[in-house]
Amino acid sequence: MDGFAHRGGRLYCEGIPVERLAERYGTPLYVYSRAALLARLGELQGAFRAAKPLICYSIKANSNLSILRLLARAGAGFDIVSGGELFRALRAGADPARIVFAGVGKTPVEIRAALKAGIRMFNAESEAEIAAADAAAAELGVRAVMALRVNPDVDARTHAKTTTARKDNKFGIALPHAREIFAARGRYPHVELSGIHLHLGSPIYSVDPYREALAKMDRFVPELRALGVELKTLNLGGGYCVSYDGSAVIRPRDYAQVIVPAVRRLGLQLIIEPGRYVAANSALLLARVVYVKEGWNQRRFVILDAAMNDLVRPAMYGSHHHIWPARGPASPLLSAGPSKARLETVDIVGPICETSDCFAKDRPLPPTRAGDLLALFSAGAYGMAMSSTYNSRPRACEVLVAGTRARVIRARETHEDLVRGE
Ligand code: LLP
Repeated sequence: MDGFAHRGGRLYCEGIPVERLAERYGTPLYVYSRAALLARLGELQGAFRAAKPLICYSIKANSNLSILRLLARAGAGFDIVSGGELFRALRAGADPARIVFAGVGKTPVEIRAALKAGIRMFNAESEAEIAAADAAAAELGVRAVMALRVNPDVDARTHAKTTTARKDNKFGIALPHAREIFAARGRYPHVELSGIHLHLGSPIYSVDPYREALAKMDRFVPELRALGVELKTLNLGGGYCVSYDGSAVIRPRDYAQVIVPAVRRLGLQLIIEPGRYVAANSALLLARVVYVKEGWNQRRFVILDAAMNDLVRPAMYGSHHHIWPARGPASPLLSAGPSKARLETVDIVGPICETSDCFAKDRPLPPTRAGDLLALFSAGAYGMAMSSTYNSRPRACEVLVAGTRARVIRARETHEDLVRGE
């Protein structure tokens, strides 16, 4: 958890006690550490350096413009999946030659916008999409560079909702059919089909699925070369895991040990699309306890001013997020041994009118009262990016901390924002 520390009974983001941020900017509040974002991107860059990869940060994980700008300046390219993400990447000053465009349903309008912007390449997911890109490229007098996203039928052994490379998933093209599409590439004179893309799922806690997919590529790539295909790139997508509970998990260098030799062996340029790894543990969501109440059988409910609209992962995937008070004993995540704090078992919930609005059930937490400030850890990826205004709750404020300075990178929404356009 670099970027966050416990000092003198208080939780800090870099050089600022997070309590001070909550007082200044209100709650719920997303707090990002600039140092953590850069360190995690740097760790990936270092781990994969030998392959000279193009690292395209996956914007869907966290699309805040200031964060994109920070990552672009640090050398990241971008993985986009919509016209909106293209707009954000360009607005953040991204180099179009480092943008790759994925997604099963790119519309002709989105394809044209990306071609006009001069992005590096598309990750095509169907032959119909290749035909659409061919038509758009012809009209604009350009050539569309494309990789074909293949479905290798590899089980990433992650959550069913974020597994993407099994036979019954909507993503990519089954390998035998992919071979036919490559063989038919001559039908699309305005398309250069010169890459393979695959994304197995997210998060992936073992190198085995990557190893399995690469073994399939060891057989598939020579088949394509035998067809005369001039392959240039192999994009392995994202999926690099983070620890949500402090337990040890594999690191970028572990993935790199499997991936780098394989792409060298295949003689292809490596592209990767990490999202979660860069953003997840670079942020906290701060929330204030509004009430504490007791239910049947002494069940204690700690009711926050943050809800599933702010962070939907627990409600949507049953995801675990570590939660701990900003003041008092150090969180076990930020201290060496297990916490010596006296703990009580509580349910930590939001105010939304759904039972699924629950961040944690039967969770040990130091005794907590109304007014206390809690931190929900690992909130930087798929947190704000998946937030909504459900129950007409304006979206949270986001601040970026650099040393002892904090800057609002997204203003808290207002009630007027809620009804704009209605
Ligand atoms: N590339 C492609 C084509 C993807 O579909 C994704 C994520 C990524 C890259 C980035 O994956 P990452 O490095 O972040 O694992 N909302 C879910 C995660 C959905 C991931 C969707 N695709 C969650 O909160 O866990």
